Amino acid sequence: MNFEKTTLRIEDTLLAILSDRKKNGTFRFLRIQKEGMVDFISNDYLGLAKVSEISESLHSFVDNGASGSRLLSGNKVYHESLEKYLADYFKAESTLLFNSGYLANLGLLSSVPQKGDTILFDELSHMCIKEGVRLSRANYFNFKHNSLENLEQKLTKATGNIFVVVESVYSMDGDQAPLKQIVELCEKYNANLIVDEAHTTGLFGDSGFGLCCDLGLEDRIFARTYTFGKAIGAHGAAVAGSEILKDYLINYSRHFIYTTALNYHSVQLIENAINYRKAHPELVEKLTRNILLFRQLIRRDIPKLESFHPIQGIMVHGNEEAIKLAGHLNAAGFDMRPIVSPTVPVNQERIRICLHAFNSTMEISNLCDAINEYYTQ
Ligand SMILES: Cc1ncc(COP(=O)(O)O)c(C=O)c1O
Repeated sequence: MNFEKTTLRIEDTLLAILSDRKKNGTFRFLRIQKEGMVDFISNDYLGLAKVSEISESLHSFVDNGASGSRLLSGNKVYHESLEKYLADYFKAESTLLFNSGYLANLGLLSSVPQKGDTILFDELSHMCIKEGVRLSRANYFNFKHNSLENLEQKLTKATGNIFVVVESVYSMDGDQAPLKQIVELCEKYNANLIVDEAHTTGLFGDSGFGLCCDLGLEDRIFARTYTFGKAIGAHGAAVAGSEILKDYLINYSRHFIYTTALNYHSVQLIENAINYRKAHPELVEKLTRNILLFRQLIRRDIPKLESFHPIQGIMVHGNEEAIKLAGHLNAAGFDMRPIVSPTVPVNQERIRICLHAFNSTMEISNLCDAINEYYTQ
């Protein structure tokens, strides 16, 4: 038999598109984190993904897969039990599990706003918010990042039921939404607020219940998305809100209905990791000290983003420079990647640094030396 590889016509088209990416330095490819590199890239802010105690007890129960979607054979006692636990943790009437944060936002935003409604979302929203909004039948507009004035202008023109979508902390800039003022604006215009707590779940508030609960705003927010793949060190997500919202999502959210449910290990891991997080507040204290140390050691003239979150950004001009600075830091043994356009808008290219509770003082100090040195070359 002749296995000689011939490319199909469609593959020629794909190759041409990919070669454009290669030419402008934006080609994406998968790689395994090199052994020995210092982790300044993962979202595992507290190091929970590597705590054996969290997963040890899981192997006594065999449930390799949930065997179906939640509406068919896949609904188990462990799903319902975790949803009750999460409702208590996040101070909500109810929660509904989704297989990831991406799917939770798609499932919520594509199903709840109806034709004739209006969705207003922050321009720096994560792709899954933008995508979810596009999948809905409502009208949608973005507003300037964290701008209350611009949001209010758009609220005055909105029609139908109004939805405002923000992140409590933004995934690329690490800055916080002015949540209290946004809640007040939403109340003034009778808008329903949706908050994505991906980067505050497990971090903010004494027990890690996120920014909305920490500010005591939970009862004034229509829906909250919590993700477990970041500070919780696990996988999956939940939408928190009323029982009515939960029933609606079970009936109409395609990203909930038509997919195999999370298995026992994934579900129980979330609860174990949250319990571990609650019992170890010192991890957050260590992380906070590391953030302050990083901010102290980076030279003042270096263009860094204003963030007190583990997400820190060093701004550069263009993709080429982002790739060059990342290369310099990788060569010094630090794992991090350039964030280039189109992931961020042109002129917003950066190096995104994620700090962790497990990073040592020496690692942070060496990282800052390497960045400072790059800027003196
Ligand atoms: C703000 C925000 N929302 C949602 C997600 C998606 O969450 P998950 O990784 O669980 O799909 C991310 C992931 O990067 C995020 O940053």
